[in-house]
Amino acid sequence: MKTTRQKSSVRKLAALRARLADAEEVVRAIRQGEVDAVMGAGKQDSQVFTLEGAEHAYRMLIESMNEGALTLTADKTILYANQCFARMVKCPLEQVTGSSFRRFLSEEDRATLRPLMKRSAKSGSKIPVLLHAGDGSLIPALLSIRELANEGSKDVIIGMVVTNMTEARRNEEMLRTLTHRVVQAQEAERRFVALELHDNITQLLCAVLVRSQALANKLSPHDGSAKREAVKLRELLGQTAEEVERISRNLRPSVLDELGLVAVLRDTSTEFAERTGVSVKLACVQLTARLPADTELALYRVLQEALKNVEKHASARHVTVYLTKLGDLVQLTIKDDGIGFNPDHHPARQKRKGGLGLLGMRERTTYVGGTLNVKSAPGKGTTILAQIPLIDRQPGGGGRRSRTNRVH
Ligand SMILES: Nc1ncnc2c1ncn2[C@@H]1O[C@H](COP(=O)(O)OP(=O)(O)OP(=O)(O)O)[C@@H](O)[C@H]1O
Ligand SMILES: [Mg+2]
Repeated sequence: MKTTRQKSSVRKLAALRARLADAEEVVRAIRQGEVDAVMGAGKQDSQVFTLEGAEHAYRMLIESMNEGALTLTADKTILYANQCFARMVKCPLEQVTGSSFRRFLSEEDRATLRPLMKRSAKSGSKIPVLLHAGDGSLIPALLSIRELANEGSKDVIIGMVVTNMTEARRNEEMLRTLTHRVVQAQEAERRFVALELHDNITQLLCAVLVRSQALANKLSPHDGSAKREAVKLRELLGQTAEEVERISRNLRPSVLDELGLVAVLRDTSTEFAERTGVSVKLACVQLTARLPADTELALYRVLQEALKNVEKHASARHVTVYLTKLGDLVQLTIKDDGIGFNPDHHPARQKRKGGLGLLGMRERTTYVGGTLNVKSAPGKGTTILAQIPLIDRQPGGGGRRSRTNRVH
């Protein structure tokens, strides 16, 4: 015979089993996406978050998206995640729903995410993060965050779209490698043409120049127009030889290889000032040793392109060139007092044609681990600032090369 106490315990146990079975069924249905409600632990007690019937259509849309879509509570509990997100983080959907979004973030991203989320939810800006997937891999992603109106409830619901950036990053990397190869091929070609010009054309021109000088000397003043023609011919040949030499120097100045950056900056500035009539003030730090070859070449090409732009676009009267060294950072500044422009809206960028100068400068500095800044405004002149760190770089990101391993 069971006592009354025993009977009551059996009843309670049966009731608890029934509730557990119910709860398990609800949890299973929520995880499978079969129901429209999720229980979440609130500050005081549990809360039910519902999806209304009309949202089924949205859910279908979201499930068919190629991006991760999530809804979160304010404390980042995942109320809903689509299959795409589960695949992205390589985690079964039933383990994603109900868990905290923070588990997919690094310590660092967790710390930076909180203030960014607030800002982004209002501005709609995107936050770059590295997601920690279930298999331990790291996935570069962009988070777009919006606070969703949750009518009839004071609880904030956050909507999040997660874009997998793996493919985009891979393409960027490939593009960067390709650009670098193009720059290397361009440098090799320039060097080759410069040598050909210098060794063959200039030599030939010099020989012709000497002959034309001899001819002019042989003709006496009595030969009148013939003598004048011979003198004129010699002058023209002299100018042609100088022009060929200038082109050859621009293609690849031997002074860069032989004497280094400061010498080539000085030569380039002097030649520019003499040819264009624009005054150039040059101030260079005393360098005790040569910089890495790729850094010297990058900085020389930046000056060359910047001066080309001054000549072509700026209508400037004065240019100032500074080479400074701040700790392990070498910095080249080229400042003109010309007409300036809006770097965000210049015509070349809008029409998506031409305009390779600034792009090339940026690519070259980025490849050697540096940055390029363009400060300009209409009527305010232009300042180009290239900064390159003098530290060992990883191969592929412009690994620091020995002097013998120049970009030829
Ligand atoms: N120093 C400058 N002063 C005024 N405008 C400039 C200056 N530098 C660049 N710009 C503006 O920026 C644009 C882009 O310059 P960029 O060097 O990229 O291309 P580009 O000079 O037009 O063509 P490319 O360099 O390929 O021959 C120029 O077309 C010009 O409008
Ligand atoms: Mg240009």
